[in-house]
Amino acid sequence: MSFLVFIGSVALCLVVSSALLQRFEEAAKADGSLSFLVIGDWGRKGAYNQSEVAFQMGVVGEQLKIDFVISTGDNFFDSGLRGIDDPAFDESFTKIYTSSSLQKQWYSVLGNHDYRGDVEAQLSPVLTNHHKRWLCLRSFIVNAEVAELFFVDTTPFVDKYFTEPGDHVYDWRGIGPRKTYISNLLKEVDLALQESNAKWKIVVGHHTIRSAGLHGDTDELVKQLLPILQSVSSGELITFSSNGSEIIYGYIHLVHELFKQKYIAIQFFTSGGGSKAWKGVVNWRNPEEMKFYYDGQGFMSVQVTETEIDIVFYDVLGHVLYKWNTSKQLHRAW
Ligand SMILES: *[C@@H]1O[C@H](CO)[C@@H](O)[C@H](O)[C@H]1NC(C)=O
Ligand SMILES: *[C@@H]1O[C@H](CO)[C@@H](O)[C@H](O)[C@H]1NC(C)=O
Ligand SMILES: *[C@@H]1O[C@H](CO)[C@@H](O)[C@H](O)[C@H]1NC(C)=O
Repeated sequence: MSFLVFIGSVALCLVVSSALLQRFEEAAKADGSLSFLVIGDWGRKGAYNQSEVAFQMGVVGEQLKIDFVISTGDNFFDSGLRGIDDPAFDESFTKIYTSSSLQKQWYSVLGNHDYRGDVEAQLSPVLTNHHKRWLCLRSFIVNAEVAELFFVDTTPFVDKYFTEPGDHVYDWRGIGPRKTYISNLLKEVDLALQESNAKWKIVVGHHTIRSAGLHGDTDELVKQLLPILQSVSSGELITFSSNGSEIIYGYIHLVHELFKQKYIAIQFFTSGGGSKAWKGVVNWRNPEEMKFYYDGQGFMSVQVTETEIDIVFYDVLGHVLYKWNTSKQLHRAW
């Protein structure tokens, strides 16, 4: 039943498709607001508190009447899906996120662990046809009226997966030649950001740009993607990521940085606490930069209106760990 309701209520349609970035439209609520959850590093067949986090997502999803869910990648551990018939899809997704509030569109990117499996299975239209709420693409855009969301495939940026893959085999079909893939992607993201009139611009990717976790910042993204984000000339930019590290750890943390020189504020949020956690590593930053860090399980909610964005981090029991908000007028007043 809820499945049918979901099909009827979600306005997901393909509008334009350019070389790399497909665009999707998401209708905001009648009052123009939008709410969604963000989760990353999750698919472990319910283990490591994945099911407990899923349950609390259902509760919060209901309270906030969420419009969709964002997955920041590392969707299926340890090595993505083996094919479109891999039972891990049901064991880690369909049978875990069962609450009615989570029967909404899921917008997912790939993490480095996903690249160790059959990448094209996760991206497959066949999978999306069978499971209407599942949508995973490499890079794409969701126009949700009050906010525009830019999903960026970050795994191909990271050199070490190419230079020191170790025992891992990555599925780079569809990427090569890598340099061309990255430069086209950066060009398209740049163009799309420059053209965006959305009040809020939200960039989603798997790897963190700024991070206090085990590996810290992702240098390739700091060098290549961050300058594009910094050149956005208006509005406020928010980035969401997860962490797919070689050493697996789930955590939620937030790094808060302000780039005041162009009256742009870029906020960095990480949500990757969907299952395994408690790595116990944090590279503390200046408190002016990092406002909050938690390395247990949990997830994040986001509520967006024309004038305000509210972000809340929850733990495995649904307790609020941290809240953050910002309003437009404030930044315009500078
Ligand atoms: C699951 O969550 C509980 C409550 O936070 C915690 O005590 C426990 O260690 C977690 N289990 C795992 C495997 O992380
Ligand atoms: C996440 O994992 C990748 C790959 O191991 C690493 O390059 C990146 O810096 C990590 N980010 C964090 C938050 O640790
Ligand atoms: C926004 O955050 C400030 C603290 O930074 C708090 O005083 C205020 O109540 C918050 N507003 C909302 C709507 O949550």
